[in-house]
Amino acid sequence: MDFNEEDFKSAAEKIASFIVEYDSILKNCTVANPVKPGDLYNSLDAKLPDSGEKSIDRLIGKVRDEISPRMVHWSHPENTAWYPAVAPKIIALGSMLENTLSCVGFSWSSSPALTELEQKVMDWLVDIYGLPEHFKFSASGTGGGCFQGTAGEAVLNACLAARGRFLSRKDVDPRKLIAYCSDQAHCSCSRAAQISLMQVRKVETNDEGSMTGELLVKQIKSDVADGFYPAFVAVTLGTTGICAFDDLKSIVEVLEAHYPNVWIHVDAAYAGPMFALKEYKNLLSGIDKVDSFNTNLSKIGIGGFDSSPMWVKNRFDLTNNFVENPDYLRSHENEINDENVHQVNFRDWTLAFGRKFRAIRVWLAMEWFGVYGIKEHVRNHIKLATEFEDLILKNTQVFELIKPRSFGLVCFKFLTKHRLKNGNNKDHDDFVQRAKIQYGLIVTSAIWKDQTYLRASFNAFASNSNDVFNVFQKFVNLALSE
Ligand SMILES: Cc1ncc(COP(=O)(O)O)c(C=O)c1O
Repeated sequence: MDFNEEDFKSAAEKIASFIVEYDSILKNCTVANPVKPGDLYNSLDAKLPDSGEKSIDRLIGKVRDEISPRMVHWSHPENTAWYPAVAPKIIALGSMLENTLSCVGFSWSSSPALTELEQKVMDWLVDIYGLPEHFKFSASGTGGGCFQGTAGEAVLNACLAARGRFLSRKDVDPRKLIAYCSDQAHCSCSRAAQISLMQVRKVETNDEGSMTGELLVKQIKSDVADGFYPAFVAVTLGTTGICAFDDLKSIVEVLEAHYPNVWIHVDAAYAGPMFALKEYKNLLSGIDKVDSFNTNLSKIGIGGFDSSPMWVKNRFDLTNNFVENPDYLRSHENEINDENVHQVNFRDWTLAFGRKFRAIRVWLAMEWFGVYGIKEHVRNHIKLATEFEDLILKNTQVFELIKPRSFGLVCFKFLTKHRLKNGNNKDHDDFVQRAKIQYGLIVTSAIWKDQTYLRASFNAFASNSNDVFNVFQKFVNLALSE
């Protein structure tokens, strides 16, 4: 039995109150609490009780008392780990709509509004980020975009499309196809290549952590000499470890001149939304020539998790891999006329057949913030990182940057108290452990030029300058108590 009207309103109000209460929970707790594996699992009923729990208060109580304390709070204002998973309240409201207007958008006929709202949101994003016009549905070409669940899915789809297109143009041994990415690229690039049955080459990067056209071609030439075929290149704009940018311009130039059949994909999972700011558009130089581009709205793009827009220059390159027209779908889909750009079937754009109404959640957030609000959020994220970087630079007796801040990410090391020299890799691994035990902070570390370093980006929608200062103080204490 579902709710009656009154009970539903009351339950929804209680959930809304808990959403508000969660902000004060966050103020009074640390990013991570000490938990042991199995803590939550063992605290819950071994079997689902026969009769349903009809008290929303008791269920919220379980969230408050049992689930929330065992969380790593990604939305905590002092969370500097990984990259953001931004969740402003409008996303919570959008999720309610998403699940209320519940439909499954595998085709235009099954969900016309879902399909067209998604198209509209994709076109708006192209304008906001300054991506090529030919990615838009409103352009006269064959481009377009839709949501993939994650950046990893986007890269996989691009890689599968690359394989399909390459083999349709060249009659070659499919075992000889190679996919390239930089040695700093996210592991989803190599996984995508493996799933697409391509061999992977991780191209050496320069001192900035960037793959350049020159370095890429050096690797390609050696592969071609060995009888392989370059089929796919994943260019990363904003790598996970140090937020480095591959040199897109030199890469597209060299591929266009010598290897025109290679599919060029850009993974801008983190940095994509930064292109809303005109001062960063130069990093997109060469973007007109790429076959596909993805970013994540969950990171800094205020769309919530599982909304990773991906655009393609030619949608048929992508859909050729997936088109199937089973007879159980025919009755309505024979209305489809491929000449009409709005009658696209998004099931052909990705592995998942069904598609939820993410577009309504993202649309709500976009309408709510507007272009100005979207840019403001990006600026604030960068501003907090700038403040943190300034603190590091004013305290060079304790810390040193391993490279200048890149967008919202600061990468640094600490100097040990006793030796007044760079902490070694083990010191930094210890720092990470002590941060968790002493302050309930999650600190992510990575390796750059054989040295472990620490990463910090201010991730919560609610993070502010006080949080930056507080985290910094805790880091100083940790460094000095080494
Ligand atoms: C550059 C880059 N690509 C891909 C990913 C993977 O993202 P997702 O979880 O959406 O697959 C990340 C995650 O941080 C990333 O930084």
